Amino acid sequence: MSLLDSTHQTVSHPERIAVIGAGYVGIPTAVMLAHFGHSVVIAERDEFRRESIRNGRSPILEDGLEDVLAAVVQSGQLEVTADAVQAVAGAKFVFLCVATPMDDDGRADLSFIDAVAQQIAHALRDDAIVVNKSTVPVGTMERVRSLINRPGVRVVSNPEFLREGTALGDSLKPDRIVVGAEDRDAAKSVAQLFASTGAPVVVTDATTSELIKYASNAFLATKLSFINTMSRLCDQLGADVDDLVRGMGSDHRIGFPFLNPGPGWGGSCLPKDTSALVAIAADAGLSLDVVRAAIESNAAQQRHIVTQVAAMVGGALSGKTVAVLGLTFKANTGDRRDSPALQVAELLLAAGARLHSFDPTVSADDSSSDVANLGVCATLEEAVVGADAAVVLTEWAMFRSLEWSRLVPTMAQPCIYDARSVVDLEAARAAGAMVRSIGRS
Ligand SMILES: NC(=O)c1ccc[n+]([C@@H]2O[C@H](COP(=O)([O-])OP(=O)(O)OC[C@H]3O[C@@H](n4cnc5c(N)ncnc54)[C@H](O)[C@@H]3O)[C@@H](O)[C@H]2O)c1
Repeated sequence: MSLLDSTHQTVSHPERIAVIGAGYVGIPTAVMLAHFGHSVVIAERDEFRRESIRNGRSPILEDGLEDVLAAVVQSGQLEVTADAVQAVAGAKFVFLCVATPMDDDGRADLSFIDAVAQQIAHALRDDAIVVNKSTVPVGTMERVRSLINRPGVRVVSNPEFLREGTALGDSLKPDRIVVGAEDRDAAKSVAQLFASTGAPVVVTDATTSELIKYASNAFLATKLSFINTMSRLCDQLGADVDDLVRGMGSDHRIGFPFLNPGPGWGGSCLPKDTSALVAIAADAGLSLDVVRAAIESNAAQQRHIVTQVAAMVGGALSGKTVAVLGLTFKANTGDRRDSPALQVAELLLAAGARLHSFDPTVSADDSSSDVANLGVCATLEEAVVGADAAVVLTEWAMFRSLEWSRLVPTMAQPCIYDARSVVDLEAARAAGAMVRSIGRS
């Protein structure tokens, strides 16, 4: 089904817009605004990402993105450049979509934001509105404003809530648009750019806007940590986590989203954003105990999985071969940043296991440092053959319909651990495997 529909009318007043950073946020944002009829230039330092876009191909794996990207590049609505200064020339709106990774003490590293602000300051239009979509700590709008230091230029906070894998769909149909600025007119004109999404708009001050993003991610991480803790308790008590989730999630005050147990939360946002929020609160004299507990509990989930796998193969992992199935932080993305699958894999290695890994987005000759020791195989069959245990760590659709009757006989010890609730447990058991699934022991 197409992500586009008739509600996305071409705008009557097309604007010239610059987007700085062609990543998981910048590309969907630029493509959507170009699709709405604006004239968009995206600035990206990375040559591979630039060339992909220029050729109408998406450099990131995102459902439905490539078709719309190709169309807006072809029509000339979306251009790409290496130079942020060139991109902002003449632009009324400038979206900052650069990374804000975690620094060594758990805070948000604002060096990319600072660098762009300094780089573009002199080139901005006198009446430009700089829109910060990156996730940034409270006070960053003010920081960017003083770095730019141009009286007519206004800065607006507009946090992004899209999810990787469904980024364009989420951009076109967001649950809400949040805009924050002292200058409410500037905030409203940014909100206007998203009017055809039909989403409700929260207009607030910049401090609240910046906090909404962190509070939302910390809440989601806490909900996941809660259900993961419950899955460990189910294992301990012999309860069934599926029934627990059904029983809890049916209560509309609780709801089903983010109530699925798994190998712990990860990805490029939740770990760094929870950590940054704890630091923001500490600076304000508050200990965010709930969020701190969610972070600690997340690491416990990964240790729990390794303990369970060790128990299945006879108590110790040393010298055992484990097939790690799935390396990305979730399905339908190629992103492995802070992937819980990689963290479990590292724990397995530390316990002395030898790994054979498979992920549909990682090739066997991938030389990236995060997968260098993981024995990446070209096929799933290759990863499983001779293994003492197979551990499913990412919920790729292909793992739901594996032919266990064919795979199990190739294993040294037929132990299967499902950390994502995707394995057909009956089929695996029928094939002779010993099977465990998180919270269903
Ligand atoms: N990834 C997500 O799902 C998601 C969701 C919501 C919010 N966010 C937030 O959005 C921000 C961006 O995240 P992302 O995942 O898109 O990051 P990313 O690393 O995928 O993309 C950032 C891009 O900016 C480019 N860049 C950096 N400095 C530049 C410069 N001076 N000129 C041109 N290009 C430059 C980088 O080369 C990179 O390609 C972060 O603050 C993140 O927390 C991310």
